[in-house]
Order: sequence, then structure tokens, then C-alpha cells
Amino acid sequence: MSNTQEILEVNNVFKVFGDAPDQAMDMLRNGATKEQVLSETGQNVGVFDASFTVKRGEIFVIMGLSGSGKSTLVRLLNRLIEPSSGSIKLKGQNITNLKDKDLLNVRRQDMSMVFQSFALMPHMSVIENAAFGLEISGIDKKTRHQRALTALEQVGLGSYAHSRPDQLSGGMQQRVGLARALANDPTILLMDEAFSALDPLIRYEMQGELIRLQKEQERTIVFISHDLDEAIRIGDRIAIMEGGRIVQIGTPQEIMNNPADDYVASFFKGVDATKTIKVKDIAQKDALTVSSTSSADVALTEASGQFAYLLDDGGRFVGVSPITQGKSSTVASLMSERLSAQYSLNASTSLKESISIVSESPYPVPVLDDKGVYQGTLSKDHILATLANN
Ligand SMILES: Nc1ncnc2c1ncn2[C@@H]1O[C@H](COP(=O)(O)OP(=O)(O)OP(=O)(O)O)[C@@H](O)[C@H]1O
Ligand SMILES: [Mg+2]
Repeated sequence: MSNTQEILEVNNVFKVFGDAPDQAMDMLRNGATKEQVLSETGQNVGVFDASFTVKRGEIFVIMGLSGSGKSTLVRLLNRLIEPSSGSIKLKGQNITNLKDKDLLNVRRQDMSMVFQSFALMPHMSVIENAAFGLEISGIDKKTRHQRALTALEQVGLGSYAHSRPDQLSGGMQQRVGLARALANDPTILLMDEAFSALDPLIRYEMQGELIRLQKEQERTIVFISHDLDEAIRIGDRIAIMEGGRIVQIGTPQEIMNNPADDYVASFFKGVDATKTIKVKDIAQKDALTVSSTSSADVALTEASGQFAYLLDDGGRFVGVSPITQGKSSTVASLMSERLSAQYSLNASTSLKESISIVSESPYPVPVLDDKGVYQGTLSKDHILATLANN
């Protein structure tokens, strides 16, 4: 329900840098390109007619080459940069015409930004750094330290609260930056190349952390990256920018299967398809499911598969039980014979990451959403068939 709610709506947003944006905007409306505008007027088009929506709880990644307009676009979202035209709606409210005070509130409460450079205050302790945004908002010391500590614990730095930034590694400093944004408890986190300065292992770890936070807290995140592996790993959807324009928006798999043009295709060239496919997209729905709480003892003599998947009233996975062909099984007997629920997959796991789990599991692995609700199963055969088709 909340998953489909659109939290941010960007409509026909343009940004022209220069002292005569109106002239440039007229040219753009009449079909001129970024290059024509630049050569004829000297005005630089940062973002060209951007329209998209971001849903509550999704990680929306913006990708593109250097200079394609990613940072400009994300700064337009919280009006660190003023749009030349177009509208931006946050939770249905148009923020493009907000006055200073209301705009400040939006930045404090709704959109926290995490930058590439750690931007920590060297003379302040870790907790003071994490509480800094709250301090600016005038929140009392006790409350802000409580919230900062909670945020530090969320990123695994609770025990470093009283260290100085220079006593932390680069990755840890970036976590403090993330904790500072989280402490604000913003509606949307804006992250501009937030992990780019980190070495690959730490970067990978931080991506995992972000995915976890997003799942646990239903965070909505707009994340800029120029790294495709990163975009595929964390992005529910990706917007690809070229020369100020958004040339394509879609799930990693959609874009990979149907790139809008050669520029987009060149990004995805050589990408391992098993990383872009999520298990929820290939889970099979035909396995036998049984309500574990059913009081009526359903006799299962002619079962379609070899395993029955037991679900509670909310559709959540409880366990899996073998079915002996020809022998009658009841809910009670299935419950008593069920195997340990050791193997399951989160719906947003990539096919690549699922392979080792499915190959170890004695039964087709149940695919579950974030709340544990059963979505289908994934078997070894089905993985092989999927790989063969790609
Ligand atoms: N303050 C500014 N004044 C004039 N032009 C600007 C300004 N900021 C950005 N631009 C221009 O807008 C375009 C997009 O820049 P932007 O910083 O958004 O790119 P980017 O995609 O974030 O690049 P990178 O990957 O290098 O960070 C570029 O042509 C840039 O020169
Ligand atoms: Mg940038």
C-alpha cells in the first residue's frame, strides 16, 4: 500500500546556468539543444525537461557520465539550486514556490543530503557531528544526542560516539555523515556520490548497510552514482541522464533488456545479467501452499509438488514440509514433519546472490517479501532455465 505511494513528483524541470536563462528557455521550448543554447547564448543547460516520480520506500538511482546533470538535478529537488522552470511536489505539496522559512523546514524535515566528502567538523565529537543538523533545527541537547546516538547505532558506530572524526577511518567518517542525515529522520535521503570516495570493500559494505536501512525503515532514497554495479545493486529503479536529459527510467532489468539508445546500452555492456534480475521477478507461483492455521484437516493425497509451503493467516512463510506421493497428509502432519525453515530468499535478492542458497537447499526456496509474506519459490531447474534464456 505505502509502497506504491508517490512521494516526490518532478514535472518538466529545467535548469539553465547563466545570466540570461529566459532567452535560453525560449530556445529550449522551441526545440534547441543544450549545445545550440551554449554556443548561441553562452548559457549552460544543467537539467533539461526532467520529469519523474519517486515512490515511498524506494531507492531511486540517478546515473550518467560526468557533467550529465546528476548533481544539478538532485540539488534542484531540495532547491539548493533554483529551477528555471517546472514544478517539484513533495507529498503533494508544490515546493517550487515556498518562501525561505518553509523551504528551510522542508530541508530540515523532509530532505537530508549526504555528500561525497564527509564534511565533518574536526573539532566536534562524532555524536556532536551526528547531532549537528538537529542543533541547527533548535532541538534541545538531550533529545538531539539521543537521536544522534540511535542513528550512530544504526550505522554501527554507537561505541564511537565520543571519538573525534580524525580517529575514524574514511568509511567510518562516511557513516557519521549518513548517521547525521538519518538523525534528522528525513522523508527522503538525497545522496550525491555518497560512497564514491570509499575503497571498494567498504563501499560494498555501505551499500549493504543502505539496503538494510531502507528495508527496515522504509527509507526513500535518491542516490546518485556513476557506478553501474552500485546502481544495479541498490536501485529499485534507475534514471539515466545524458547532457541534462533523463533518457531512460526503469528497473535495472527493464533498462538492460530494452536500452533506449546506444548511450544507455553502452553503460550496460558487459554487465552480468544475473545481477540485474531480482528473484521476485522470476519466483514461480505454482507450488502448493497450505494454511498452517486451518482447523479443517485438509487431506492431501494428490499433491502437485513434492513440498508443501506452510503459511500463517497473514500469508507469511512458516515452514516447508515434504509430501509423500499417494500418502494422505493433513495440516497437522505437515506441521509436525516440516523441515527447518533455514532456506528462504528476500524478494529483492539478485539472481546472482540466490544461486548458492538455492543450490544448497533441499527444496525450492521460498521467496519472501520484507514482511516474510510468501511470493513463490525458486528452484534449481528454474534458475538454469532463466540463465539459458538470458
Ligand atoms: N554553478 C554552475 N554554474 C554553471 N554551470 C554549472 C554549474 N553547476 C553545474 N553546471 C553545469 O551543469 C552541467 C551538469 O553539471 P553537474 O554537476 O550536475 O554534473 P554531474 O552529472 O553531477 O557530473 P559529475 O559526475 O562530474 O559530478 C555541466 O555542464 C556543468 O558545467
Ligand atoms: Mg556530480
